[in-house]
Parts: sequence; C-alpha cells; structure tokens
Amino acid sequence: MKRWWQRGILVLLLCGAVLLGWRLFVADRLHPANAAQRQAEAAKLRDPALVARGAYLATVGDCAACHTARGGRRYAGGRVLATPFGDLSTPNITPDPDTGIGRLRFADFWRALHQGRGRHGEPLYPVFSYTSFTRVTRDDAWAIFAYLKSLPPVRQPNREPALSFPYNVRSSLLAWRALYFRPGVYRPDPARSAEWNRGAYLVQGLGHCGECHTPRNAWGAMEEKRRLVGGSLPAQEWYAPGLGTQPGGGLAGWSGQDIVDLLKTGESSKGAAFGPMADVVRNSTQYMSDADLRAVATYLRALPARGPAPVPAAFARAAGHVQGGELYAQQCAACHGKQGEGVPGIYPPLDGNGAVTEPSAADAVRSVLLGGFAPTTVGDPRPYSMPPFAQQLSDDEVAAVVNYIRQSWSNRAGAVWPAEVGRLRHTPVD
Ligand code: HEC
Ligand code: HEC
Ligand code: HEC
Repeated sequence: MKRWWQRGILVLLLCGAVLLGWRLFVADRLHPANAAQRQAEAAKLRDPALVARGAYLATVGDCAACHTARGGRRYAGGRVLATPFGDLSTPNITPDPDTGIGRLRFADFWRALHQGRGRHGEPLYPVFSYTSFTRVTRDDAWAIFAYLKSLPPVRQPNREPALSFPYNVRSSLLAWRALYFRPGVYRPDPARSAEWNRGAYLVQGLGHCGECHTPRNAWGAMEEKRRLVGGSLPAQEWYAPGLGTQPGGGLAGWSGQDIVDLLKTGESSKGAAFGPMADVVRNSTQYMSDADLRAVATYLRALPARGPAPVPAAFARAAGHVQGGELYAQQCAACHGKQGEGVPGIYPPLDGNGAVTEPSAADAVRSVLLGGFAPTTVGDPRPYSMPPFAQQLSDDEVAAVVNYIRQSWSNRAGAVWPAEVGRLRHTPVD
C-alpha cells in the first residue's frame, strides 16, 4: 500500500500521543495572570490604532469566513467545515467570557495562532489554518487579538466535532503535528526586496493562500516543496490552480496588474474568480490595500518556473470533439467568443485560461453545471454571471463541451469522462 510506512509511524506515534495527550488534558492551561498584568494587557488592547490595524489584518486573514455560520453573527463561530475525516464546527471567537475568547489572554491567543493549541493546551485540528498563521508576527497577532476583543460579545456555545475515529481523538493530532507542523514566524529573505518579502509574508502567512493552492499528501499536509503549484481542496470538489506566472504555471502569462485586478475586483483580463475563490475575494482580498496587492503580485510573479505544462503523453482529442464544438457554438460562444477569446472586462477568455487547463477538470465541469457568479466587489459592483447548464445538458454533453474547451485553441489538457461529470453533479456546492 502506498505510504504504508507513514501509516506505521502514525500508529506508533498514536500510542505515545494518547499518553501525552492525556497528560495535557488533566490541567486547565489558560495562562494565569495577576490583576496588574491583566489591567496592563487590557489597556494595551484598547488602543484604537491597534484595533483598526487588527480589523484590516483579520480581513486579510479571512477569519470571519470560517468563524461565522451562514446567517449567523460574525465571528460567533458555528460554521460547519467538511474535512476528509468528518465535520468540524468553528468556535466562537467573539469576546464572550463563557462561550468565546473573553477570558483568553494574549498568550493563549498566540498559542492558538502560532502553535495551533487551544485554551487547554490541546492540539487543534489543522483545518484551522495555523500551519500558515504560524508565520504571522507577534505584533500583527496583538493587533488581531485587540480587534477581536473589541467586537460585541455573542453568547453562543461551541459544538463538539463530529469526526470519526481516530481523528476524534485530539491527541492523535500530536503525531500529525510531529510529522508535518513546524511553528515559526516568517523570516524575511534579505536578498529580496521589501515588497517581495511583504508578498511572501501575506501569501504564506496571514493570507494562507497555500492552504488551497498547495497540493496535500495522503495525510492532508501541504507539500512544502511544491508550494503553490496547485491542489485539490480538502473534502471539496474544487481545484485551486497553480499560482506561478511562468510557463507551465497556473497563471502563465498573467501580468502583475491581472493578479491585482482578480484579487481586488474578482475579474481580470485572464480569468474570473468563481467557487471558493469568489468567497475569498468577496470577504478578504478585495479589501487589501493596493500596496499589499502589488506585494502579493510581486511575490507570485517571482515564483520559480515549472517548465512547460506536461502534455498528456498521447495527447489525442477526446471522442465527441465535434459534438463538443457544436455545443460550444450554440451554448457558449456568444459570451466566450468563437475562439475562446472572451470579451475584455465582461466574459473571461477560455483560451489559455488556467482555470480551464488545470490538471483537474473539476472547476470547468462545475462552472458549466453550476454557472459562474463572480463576487460582487467595491471594484466591480455588478459583475456579469454565467447561467447554470445542469438542467439543460446531460453528463455526456457536459463532458463533450468541457473536453472541447480543454482541448481547443492553445489548450492541451486531459479529458474528462461523463461518469465523472455525473459524480460532480451530485456533490454539494461547498
Ligand atoms: C479555514 C477556516 C479557518 C480560518 C480561515 C480561521 N479559523 Fe480559527 N479556527 C478554525 C477551526 C475549525 C478552529 C477549531 C479547531 C479545533 O477545534 O481543533 C479554529 C480555532 C481558532 C481559535 C481557538 C479558539 C479556542 O476557543 O481555543 C482561535 C483563537 C482562532 N481560530 C482564531 C482565528 C483567527 C484570528 C483567524 C484569522 C487570522 C482564524 N481563526 C481563521 C477555522 C478557521
Ligand atoms: C479557500 C481556498 C482558497 C484560498 C484560501 C485561496 N484560493 Fe485562490 N483559488 C481557489 C480556487 C478553488 C480557485 C479556482 C477558481 C477560480 O479560478 O476562481 C482559485 C483561483 C485563484 C486565482 C485565479 C486563477 C485562474 O486561473 O483563474 C488566483 C490569482 C488566486 N486564486 C489567488 C489566490 C491568492 C493570492 C490567495 C491568498 C490571498 C488565494 N488565492 C487564496 C481557492 C482558494
Ligand atoms: C451569458 C454568458 C455566458 C454563457 C452563455 C457562458 N458563459 Fe461561461 N462564463 C461567463 C461569465 C460571466 C463567467 C465568469 C463568472 C465568474 O467569475 O464566476 C464565466 C466563466 C466560465 C468559466 C470559468 C473561467 C473563469 O476564469 O472564470 C468556464 C470554464 C466557462 N465559463 C465555460 C463556459 C461554457 C463551456 C459555456 C457553454 C456551455 C459557457 N461558459 C457559457 C459567461 C457565460
């Protein structure tokens, strides 16, 4: 079995971990403090400038997206996140003393963000992106904490996770952490510009772009050596393309301005944001300052080249290319253009579009089934959208038209089978 040795290690570590975990649980580990220390900390946290900076940073970190239930109070938690191991509900991070973070001191918060440990010292599940947030500086963490403490407290108890064994045993995480988690604040690279370093800090740290755009191994850990080359989202049928702009990268041919446009408005001359990325733009990146967006673009444009995209060994157009072409002409060309060239600022091009040619056809298939809804942003308050074709087109037809756009013009991507379309048709939207 592939990765059998990892399984072996996991079992061994699990045994040790259960013992260690038990020891961790026996004591309540909130950081103690005397009255004077508490008052000094409270005074520091009330600084309006710190709170304002924290509001911005919390937006960049997109904390509200996970810590808000659909239709729920902001930051009060209760959003259910699907993981490959079961469902997990996010905790309340408003300053309610009983159900939120009201009693936490900065040291407790830092331990969560930087070390991925909860209020009792227990290891937290890495669905909370602390594998990225550990890069965040202490100064920035102070600001975020000050902002969270300034929010109106909401009384809303947390829900227990519904994970399957052994993942429901928190101490089993100790094994995972020993293998895959290295806490550490971002260390600037002196050989690079200040702008590049700022971009690296945002992308690797607070912006946690790699949590979706980096492939994961069998244990759900990001493959650091293949940072940002593109990956499937955990437990969701979406693919986040590579973020390199060099030949072979998912953003090949994108200018810095294209990247800034996409993150700020959800649209660019090269492609539009949809699915989970539309949420990221709506809640987070559209509010990033122009300087920070430029820094992100500078960093992404400096990612190493990966060489030309691997052409499937025997590239042959899938059967049904003619049928796909006819469907394309009838259903799609009016918006996306006969040659997949799109209409600048209105309809994204499909020729040379990384979201179309990425290794997985999932995004293209789901765009066709679900339609496309770019995020409404300040920069683009009334984006154009794409109608869903789920009712209109059969699995065969969706496969044919997706294969057509993946294998026409300059696009040379692998084919998708109707059965796969059928499976994607029945997966939840997010
Ligand atoms: C991708 C989803 C996600 C994002 C983004 C996210 N969190 Fe969380 N967070 C979680 C989950 C899930 C947990 C609970 C983990 C567990 O129970 O093991 C958690 C736990 C926490 C905890 C521990 C709470 C406690 O009661 O001990 C804190 C503090 C926290 N998050 C703060 C933040 C902040 C600050 C940000 C933004 C910088 C953020 N989170 C962004 C999902 C997320
Ligand atoms: C929750 C997962 C998630 C996070 C976090 C995330 N992305 Fe994405 N991203 C996606 C998915 C899925 C797509 C594919 C859909 C699309 O193209 O809009 C995507 C697409 C993109 C694209 C467009 C690619 C194309 O070819 O159209 C860019 C650029 C991008 N992301 C940049 C970023 C940056 C920069 C960050 C961090 C600030 C980030 N993403 C964070 C999931 C994510
Ligand atoms: C009414 C105009 C319209 C029609 C018809 C249409 N699209 Fe789209 N399409 C759009 C718009 C607008 C977007 C961007 C939506 C977004 O950002 O979520 C889009 C996005 C896409 C994307 C994702 C690419 C990206 O960068 O956002 C794909 C793939 C796609 N369309 C394929 C098709 C196919 C295949 C057809 C025909 C079956 C089709 N479209 C028909 C307007 C249209």
